[in-house]
Amino acid sequence: MKIAVCGKGGSGKSTVTVLLAKELARKGKPVLVIDSDESNYGLSRQLGMEVPADFTAYFGGKEKALQDMMLSNFTHQFFDGTWTLKDIPESYCSEKDGVKLMASGKIHTANEGCACTMGNVISQFIDHLILLRDEYALMDMEAGIEHFGRGIDNGVDQILMVVEPSYESLALTGKILELGQSIGKPVCFVLNKVDDENQEWMRENICEGAEVVCALPSEKKISAAGLRGTELQDQYDAIANLAEALVNGTSGMVPVL
Ligand SMILES: Nc1ncnc2c1ncn2[C@@H]1O[C@H](COP(=O)(O)OP(=O)(O)O)[C@@H](O)[C@H]1O
Ligand SMILES: [Mg+2]
Repeated sequence: MKIAVCGKGGSGKSTVTVLLAKELARKGKPVLVIDSDESNYGLSRQLGMEVPADFTAYFGGKEKALQDMMLSNFTHQFFDGTWTLKDIPESYCSEKDGVKLMASGKIHTANEGCACTMGNVISQFIDHLILLRDEYALMDMEAGIEHFGRGIDNGVDQILMVVEPSYESLALTGKILELGQSIGKPVCFVLNKVDDENQEWMRENICEGAEVVCALPSEKKISAAGLRGTELQDQYDAIANLAEALVNGTSGMVPVL
């Protein structure tokens, strides 16, 4: 099952991706985390892993890949045929406790150009990735909704939006539900950083028709790890229940085929 984890910047996409990946791995499921956020620096640290090599380098690096795309008039297919988890070259992956991490690539220097090439590589990768029944790919998306415009979500089975307690984040729920539905993808919502006071407001003010599948409390240990850049090691009931729902195909999640 391929899941896109999206939401506004700072809402907790990386945190939820990591906690869910670790929970699924604890259940013995093979998990691939795909970092498709070019400005994401905390993800590997939250997983307790080294930063993997940019996957775009596999195709000769950003410049070469962009050149290939331009020469082919933007019809360049980086992948011919399908890929499985085993086909991902080890040199482009970090791995720990049953979770693999790969990354599309980062912006390394000023004026080096936009991240479209990386977006193209990763969207083709997710399209060509074939998973077994019990395998999971979690894509930690870039903030906002540009990834919908780039077509990256077309290749996933499920969209999970992380919603934090802010007007901005709640306002985005309707747009993401609409965008997901427009490409035929089920969208579910994870309320993050909830407490007794904000949860009720969030549930009342989330967009109409939203399916809330998880409410992760605001936890001191999570924010402390976020500040220090250390691994997330604790388990949370809300995420354990979400993993269970995913595996069983219940609670609004698409069933695993
Ligand atoms: N449930 C939570 N409780 C406390 N802090 C959280 C929680 N979820 C996320 N955070 C903190 O919020 C900040 C943003 O989270 P992050 O996962 O990096 O967001 P995103 O990937 O959406 O930009 C981090 O400092 C993180 O530690
Ligand atoms: Mg992030």
